[in-house]
Amino acid sequence: MTDIDIKKGLAGVTVDYTAVSKVNPDTNSLLYRGYPVQELAATQPFEAVAYLLWHGELPTAQQLAELRATERRYRALTDEVKQAIDLLPLGAHPMDEVRTAASVIGAADLAGIDNVMDAVGTPEENLQRSIRLFAALPAVVAYGQRRRRGQELVVARDDLNYAENFLWMTFGEDVDEVVVDAFNTSMILYAEHSFNASTFTARVIASTLSDLYSAVVGAIGALKGPLHGGANEAVLHIFDEIGDAWNVNSWLDEALAAKRKIMGFGHRVYKRGDSRVPTMKAALDRLVDHYDRPDVRALYSALENEFVSRKGIYPNLDYPSGPAYNLMGFDTLTFTPLFVAARITGWTAHIMEQQASNALIRPLSAYNGPDERHIEGYVPDA
Ligand code: ACO
Repeated sequence: MTDIDIKKGLAGVTVDYTAVSKVNPDTNSLLYRGYPVQELAATQPFEAVAYLLWHGELPTAQQLAELRATERRYRALTDEVKQAIDLLPLGAHPMDEVRTAASVIGAADLAGIDNVMDAVGTPEENLQRSIRLFAALPAVVAYGQRRRRGQELVVARDDLNYAENFLWMTFGEDVDEVVVDAFNTSMILYAEHSFNASTFTARVIASTLSDLYSAVVGAIGALKGPLHGGANEAVLHIFDEIGDAWNVNSWLDEALAAKRKIMGFGHRVYKRGDSRVPTMKAALDRLVDHYDRPDVRALYSALENEFVSRKGIYPNLDYPSGPAYNLMGFDTLTFTPLFVAARITGWTAHIMEQQASNALIRPLSAYNGPDERHIEGYVPDA
């Protein structure tokens, strides 16, 4: 064994610069292109934040209108994507549907490019690919939930903005403004978070000069894991297990004795609380009032208070977003695909940043396997 200082999980390792976002655990802040995420969530539609992440500046009214016009053009679930989803078993996890759909969208868009060097695309082509995925994935997520419920596809509506249309395609009815606002907030809070596992995966793939769609497909795979995006789904499973605020103490006794990770708590970077939680918690509170569900608030607070006081580990964004999506009417399995629909903006901004000043990402490893040995009886050719 060597005495090389291994940074397991790359913990604490700074691998590159980024101008997309700044996570500051000391001040408990998150900035997108310099803007505090709370200010963006309070004032902007998600489309404007997508523009900001891609271009570095918030859009003018005309730029926003242009982006919205392009987004509307790509909203519909194309026949090939619908067919690909329908080929998957009903029991397939919706993250597998979304991953498959992103792959099909990419294959269709890149059809005809037969030289691998050309697939990487120009900055303008990659911006268009980013908008295409941003626009197309909501229909995939919405159709997935409806398909599992045995409901018909609901087609997109051009008179609605991104958040309104997403909810329309999912539920097939107009929803209250408090729900649209909470949903818009969640999309903005989930949009970007520097070099998290899925974004880093996307950047690794982009660094090989593979195309943007391939990088996104890899990122979706990374996000599926419960230590990352899959945690918002897992929070609801935990809430279902606990059932009622009164059961928190005994449930936690058992869970911690069994050395279980409590999903929705802890973060690799934030050790004193996730900067996005207060904004999402406020949106959850408004939903709790709207749907008159004090039981949800009681369970949320009881688990948070008890776990923080026992372990000093704070909730992350998945903790308030899980119950918020549940109250909005999303199935638990759909939560992580919603994260995909939001994070597509951050991933693609990072992919384009990686492409703009690329270096192949290829770290080293320290070998700790058997010493050199040989196949018995093997005699090399003279
Ligand atoms: N439940 C119980 N114990 C925890 C939790 C948790 N949620 N989080 C951390 N710990 C404990 C660990 O068991 C470990 O204890 P030990 O030192 O006694 O072994 C210690 O705190 C450090 O934990 P690590 O897992 O080493 O810290 P790391 O920085 O790698 O973990 C992570 C970050 C993976 C997010 C972790 O906190 C976790 O698994 N949380 C639950 C999953 C989750 O909510 N993921 C969402 C991440 S945020 C997002 O994607 C929006």
